[in-house]
Amino acid sequence: KILILDFGSQFTQLIARRVRELSVYCEIHPYNHFPEIDETVKGVILSGSPCSVRDEDSPRLDLSQFRGKLPLLGVCYGAQLLAHTAGGEVAPSKIREYGRAMLHTEHASRTRLFQNILADTQVWMSHGDTIVSVPSGFKVIGSTETVSVAAFRIEGEETYGIQFHPEVTHSLEGKEVLKNFIVDICGCHQDWTPSNFVDETVQDLKKKLGDDKVVMALSGGVDSTVAAMLVHRAIGKNLFCIFVDNGLLRKDEFEQVLHSYQDMGLNIKGVDSKDQFYIALNGLTDPEDKRKAIGRTFIEVFDHEAHLLEGVSWLGQGTIYPDVIESVSVKGPSATIKSHHNVGGLPDFMKLKVVEPLRTLFKDEVRAVGRELQISQNILGRHPFPGPGLAIRILGDITADKVAILQEVDAIFINKLKDRGLYDKVWQAGAILLPIQSVGVMGDERTYERVVALRAVASVDGMTADWVHLPYDFLADVSNEIINRVKGVNRVVYDISSKPPATIEWE
Ligand code: XMP
Repeated sequence: KILILDFGSQFTQLIARRVRELSVYCEIHPYNHFPEIDETVKGVILSGSPCSVRDEDSPRLDLSQFRGKLPLLGVCYGAQLLAHTAGGEVAPSKIREYGRAMLHTEHASRTRLFQNILADTQVWMSHGDTIVSVPSGFKVIGSTETVSVAAFRIEGEETYGIQFHPEVTHSLEGKEVLKNFIVDICGCHQDWTPSNFVDETVQDLKKKLGDDKVVMALSGGVDSTVAAMLVHRAIGKNLFCIFVDNGLLRKDEFEQVLHSYQDMGLNIKGVDSKDQFYIALNGLTDPEDKRKAIGRTFIEVFDHEAHLLEGVSWLGQGTIYPDVIESVSVKGPSATIKSHHNVGGLPDFMKLKVVEPLRTLFKDEVRAVGRELQISQNILGRHPFPGPGLAIRILGDITADKVAILQEVDAIFINKLKDRGLYDKVWQAGAILLPIQSVGVMGDERTYERVVALRAVASVDGMTADWVHLPYDFLADVSNEIINRVKGVNRVVYDISSKPPATIEWE
């Protein structure tokens, strides 16, 4: 595997994704908190950072533990750290380098890092400091018009530094550079494939779980479904799945998803707890209060159901890698590590051991594993849907009537997206029921009814999002259908806000 040491760059996860795309397993760890380097580690990558090596309190690392012992690649800050700690000079750039640049690598001194790369290749720069001079033993192997030390190698070692970001797609041959490092220089085998992952994980789960029983809550989402199928492959009927109808799902979703799970051979129990959730939500209007009430009720229901099962000793969860990566926070005078809040999951008090077969996977890898397991595209291709469901798309208090209205509106919108072939082009879509009424006319009648908003966004991971420019005729069609079909709605608006500053959900 490859170890990626994180100095707090926004691109660190992207480096890991690229390495994984090359079918090589890698892990991200904070630069000041990483596991012992054993023989499974074939190479180390030092990430970028928002800090400057010139600052006294910028993140530091004793590089002697790697240099000359393992292949080492410093990216941006990582490269500057290599140069700076060896006695090179790092200074503020005269102009802040941000964006595309042409990297020139000398033919005569071609290194393995740049083999098969064009002599002049487009790279992406994002840095405020620049390496002005390198110490002896360092050989400059690439430069751009404004950066003379854009890449270097330490002679006699497999240590490299690059100022550009190979992980960003604007570095057109960035992936090739990473491949040269990982496959050729580190000697990693490209065998991190969905099919190997499934085989190894199922073997591990068999060993770990033996004849033990596992309980899992499924949501209809990709992560919990793929996690359950892996556990199911390993222990079959000893996996007990619970799918809760919280009364906040999409129209007909509970029945449909339950059937899919049954078709997949899962031992699944559907639990209708709609009333319990509506009672818990009664009168609540604050979004966080609603979320808390839903979370609490879910634990109550799940705890009750789990207690009905005998001899269960494990809780299965669909936790994925972005939830468990310890992130480095380098803001403020000293760098600190913070763990994500949702590590380990909810029911601490249930005293169950936790099994999380997807802990090492990124979302796109979860989907690939899902395809390997032949889970239907219907589940794998689903838009993300928030745990609190329609409750955070109904502004104000929740009633069964409002849920019914929103379910109809949402179903019209989503089905039309599918009919027009737009569903897969949109990252997430849904409808929001607004807490206002507006005047309209229908026939000769004056109406005073509800307003709904439609939202459709393009995104990669939900952290940022753009509203989607859906065709006007499509919006017109959806709007007509909603107003004609859904009683109680006489106005439809389309949300044209991007994130940031707006969030995807309205609550
Ligand atoms: P926001 O609204 O923060 O949403 O831009 C980003 C993504 O997260 C989902 N989301 C949630 N998911 N519980 C969840 O499981 C929640 O409370 C929650 N709030 C937002 C949202 O649907 C979007 O995909």
